[in-house]
Amino acid sequence: MIKVEAIVREEKLEDVKEALRAVDVRGITVSQVMGCGTQLGYTHLVRGSKVSMNMLPKVKFEIVVSNEDWAQVATDAIVKVARTGEPGDGKVFWYPVERAVRIRTGERDREAITPAPSDGEDEAQG
Ligand SMILES: Nc1ncnc2c1ncn2[C@@H]1O[C@H](COP(=O)(O)OP(=O)(O)OP(=O)(O)O)[C@@H](O)[C@H]1O
Ligand SMILES: [Mg+2]
Repeated sequence: MIKVEAIVREEKLEDVKEALRAVDVRGITVSQVMGCGTQLGYTHLVRGSKVSMNMLPKVKFEIVVSNEDWAQVATDAIVKVARTGEPGDGKVFWYPVERAVRIRTGERDREAITPAPSDGEDEAQG
C-alpha cells in the first residue's frame, strides 16, 4: 500500500477532487495547511512596506491506494489538473503504508482500502 500525499494550490481543491473521482480513486483526506517550497515564500508590499510571506496556504490531499499502479493513476490525475506552470504548484510524495484497518468490518490492509461489497454511494456516511 502507498500513501500519495499531494500539496496543491488552494484554488485547485475542487479540480483535484473531481479528477480523483473521475479516475475512481476513493478514500481521500483533505487538510488546509501552510507551507513553503524552494523559494521560501515571497515578499510583497503592504502599504509601502516589504512583507515576507514565508508560509503560504495550501491544500493537502492524502490518499492511500493498494499498489503502485493506483498511486501512479492518482498522481497523474492530480498533476494534470494542479499544474499552472508557475512556481508554487506543489508537490506529490509517495510513502509506504504498513497497515490499514476498516473500523466497521475489521478488514485489514488492501481489503480495508478497496470498496466493501455492501458499499453504496451514500456521501453522508463518509
Ligand atoms: N520538500 C518539501 N517537503 C515538504 N513539503 C514541501 C516540500 N516542497 C514543497 N512542499 C510543500 O508544497 C508547497 C508548494 O511547494 P512549491 O510548489 O513552491 O515547491 P517548489 O519546490 O518551490 O517548486 P516551484 O519551484 O514550482 O515553486 C509548499 O508550500 C509546501 O507546503
Ligand atoms: Mg516554490
